[in-house]
Amino acid sequence: MTDLELDVVEFVLTAAIYDDNDRFEPDDLPATHRSVFWSDGRIERPVTATQTTASEATGVDRPWEAISGLMFTDYDDFSGTLSLTDRSMAEKWYLDRVDDQRIEENPVLAAHFADERDVDYEHAREHNRPARADRAFVDSLLEEYFDEDEEDEMLDLVDVQTPEDVDLTLNDIVLTAEQEGEIQKIVKAIEHRQYLARIGLREVGKLLFVGPPGTGKTSVARALGQDLGLPVVEVKLSMITSQYLGETAKNVEKTFEVAKRLAPCILFIDEFDFVAKTRSSDEHAAIKRAVNTLLKSIDEVSLVQDEVLLIGATNHPDQLDAAAWRRFDEIVNFPKPDAPMRTDILKVVTREMDIVDFSPKELAELTEGLTGSDLRLVLREAVLEALTEERTTLTQQDLVDAIKDFEERDTLKNLDMIDGDHDALVAGGLGDSHDHGNDL
Ligand SMILES: Nc1ncnc2c1ncn2[C@@H]1O[C@H](COP(=O)(O)OP(=O)(O)OP(=O)(O)O)[C@@H](O)[C@H]1O
Ligand SMILES: [Mg+2]
Repeated sequence: MTDLELDVVEFVLTAAIYDDNDRFEPDDLPATHRSVFWSDGRIERPVTATQTTASEATGVDRPWEAISGLMFTDYDDFSGTLSLTDRSMAEKWYLDRVDDQRIEENPVLAAHFADERDVDYEHAREHNRPARADRAFVDSLLEEYFDEDEEDEMLDLVDVQTPEDVDLTLNDIVLTAEQEGEIQKIVKAIEHRQYLARIGLREVGKLLFVGPPGTGKTSVARALGQDLGLPVVEVKLSMITSQYLGETAKNVEKTFEVAKRLAPCILFIDEFDFVAKTRSSDEHAAIKRAVNTLLKSIDEVSLVQDEVLLIGATNHPDQLDAAAWRRFDEIVNFPKPDAPMRTDILKVVTREMDIVDFSPKELAELTEGLTGSDLRLVLREAVLEALTEERTTLTQQDLVDAIKDFEERDTLKNLDMIDGDHDALVAGGLGDSHDHGNDL
């Protein structure tokens, strides 16, 4: 019970202190507190602690019940407002129960208690997610940019992931040494972008991720956003061919505008090979125009000036022409994982699982040619199989069996990938292989 009590008191106290002092900005509120106060892209004063806001921010079902036993709290039935009748008593009560580390997770309180405790406001601010990365802020900005009729089309083209939406960090992804090096460089470049601007070094911050499907390109972009506290604006270039052809060039421009408004952010452009395809073939003029707009927009956007990190991704580097290549200043290779990497991936994806006689090394030897995505699917199959026998503990043998199943299914999948040539499927006589359902 005490924990819930503490969470609610902290929320009410933070709101009260925030309202008292104009120098506090939304960036000073902890992200969980802030999320309940957004309205039309703004956080207006006063920020009021009510049954509803307190419950959403803290996850406590009935916040008033949680704190009603305390001497210094009050509740207004009519407005649903939670308040503190004796602020100094509330502060003392709170300070008696928290350590410095907890206070530093809340910039408002870190500033307020800087004299009483060994806490640093600047440090707290730096580690608090900035307000412009909040889902609610991003949504209100998207609404502002794309009016109603266009919105559906734009939603096909652009998808913004905020740190709130992403449940994945770089620790969940097994990287090659080269990938780690490139990511370290880019993290440093973002950190020191003012220095780079000063010395006039502009050619940083455009990466191209190259590799087969399922090797972690999208995941790394999202995890990087999560780790850096930045929104990730995702664009699938094939979506450019959506029905309103005349609008596509304009939509590409808007995408870059949105990215610049959301900055600092990551702009992730998937299926980059699409650019090359349209330039070489006799595509519709509107698509060519859109692609030219895209290339021009890429030239004009900059990490150093606009704080937009551009990441392109492709499965078909062979299809990229010189015009596309030279727009990126680093190429990051996403190869299929080798045996040691597969071992590590298997360890990562099974972190939360119970597996008897687990030998990731042995499994890695059986999974030559499989990607990280494939390994995840193998695990999923093994888990579901075991569940059909009411088991939540797996065995090494379950995984070996799942690998065999996967390989049978993989034959199907690979044929399917011969550019949608379904005749090949029939001619291949796949009738005798058994289909294990979807080939995701
Ligand atoms: N190296 C890896 N370590 C851990 N997980 C991985 C790795 N590679 C892929 N995965 C997992 O596989 C799944 C698919 O990866 P992801 O979507 O990032 O691949 P991708 O390279 O973007 O593929 P595509 O080219 O098809 O878009 C994700 O769940 C991801 O976490
Ligand atoms: Mg992807």
